[in-house]
Amino acid sequence: MASARSNLYVLSVLLLAAVCDAHWGWWAPAPAAPVAPPKPVDAILSEDFYSYTCPQATDVVKKVVLSILKKNRNLAGGFLRLHFHDCWVNGCDGSLLLNSTADNQAERDGFTNFLIRGIPEIDEIKEALEKVCPNTVSCADILALAARDATAGVGGPSWPVYLGRRDSRVSRALDADTNLPFPSLNFTELVQNFAPKGFGAREMIVLSGSHTIGRTHCNGIGPNLYNYTGIDDLTNPALDSKFARVLKKKCPKGNRTNIVDMDRTKNLFDREYFKGVLNHKGVFISDLALIENTFGLRVVTELVARSSSFFREFADAMVKMGNLSPLTGAEGEIRKHCQFVN
Ligand code: HEM
Repeated sequence: MASARSNLYVLSVLLLAAVCDAHWGWWAPAPAAPVAPPKPVDAILSEDFYSYTCPQATDVVKKVVLSILKKNRNLAGGFLRLHFHDCWVNGCDGSLLLNSTADNQAERDGFTNFLIRGIPEIDEIKEALEKVCPNTVSCADILALAARDATAGVGGPSWPVYLGRRDSRVSRALDADTNLPFPSLNFTELVQNFAPKGFGAREMIVLSGSHTIGRTHCNGIGPNLYNYTGIDDLTNPALDSKFARVLKKKCPKGNRTNIVDMDRTKNLFDREYFKGVLNHKGVFISDLALIENTFGLRVVTELVARSSSFFREFADAMVKMGNLSPLTGAEGEIRKHCQFVN
């Protein structure tokens, strides 16, 4: 009886093994997948994309970016933000740079791109590239390289930039305003904004660390000071009261265009932004929202630490962001001038 039971046991184990092998490759090495997995973007874009057609490309971009930063270090923020705003709206395709036309309001004229800066400087880089390799390097790739070189140029991390993006011929303000995050968003809304692009809550917090450089206009600060949750004259209760008074001086009610530093060290890519957030000194509602729950508070606290992995995580997230839905192959075009379709 006992031996019949053990025979049955051995038989059922063998049967289970066969089933697992057939279905999941759990028992033995899996057979080759019958369908090729989707191609990772890294396989389409490559670091050496211009190595034959324009070997000087990356050096030229870096040289012009650094010469611009020499005159105005604060523009690093402009370059970094341009790349984000390009990639977040239908992928990294240079669409942000296109001008509006008589019958089309382009992304750059959307509400979320209010007074965006750095576009003439991207033209400067493009001009330098056109001199050495005409019609070769896309504006979308220039944005990606400039963001990296500018970040590294002000003390931040560097990362590999995979190249080969092509430029789109389409740019719509409505797409910008339906994709880009507003500075009045709370934590849940920020997560909801990042999730469709494949970014988790931690990556959202890490990327918000970009606000360690550059500047903002009072436009984005207004809701934090005077219109919290849409209530007239309500200041965000999470905002440090002394800091609120300082901000209110810089941004009187109704003012949209005065300029405020993003953090205490606006020209240095460091962890100071997260320190400000932890001390309730965030210029936007969305900055303070990062610590509105225990998860966010824990992540920001981790990122503030001297030994934190902020730079490494930031670099990884930037590579991921730069790979969002590029146009490749015969799609789009290589613009001659970044503000106009050919
Ligand atoms: C998390 C959601 C985010 C919100 C709500 C947000 C919102 C804003 C706003 C309102 C400004 C001020 C713009 C101005 O008035 O000129 C700004 C500036 C900036 N943002 Fe963000 N942002 C977010 C995420 C990001 C990300 C992911 C990046 C980069 C990867 C980024 C990079 C920057 C930079 C560098 C500036 C300074 C721009 C300059 O100096 O011209 N932001 N952001």
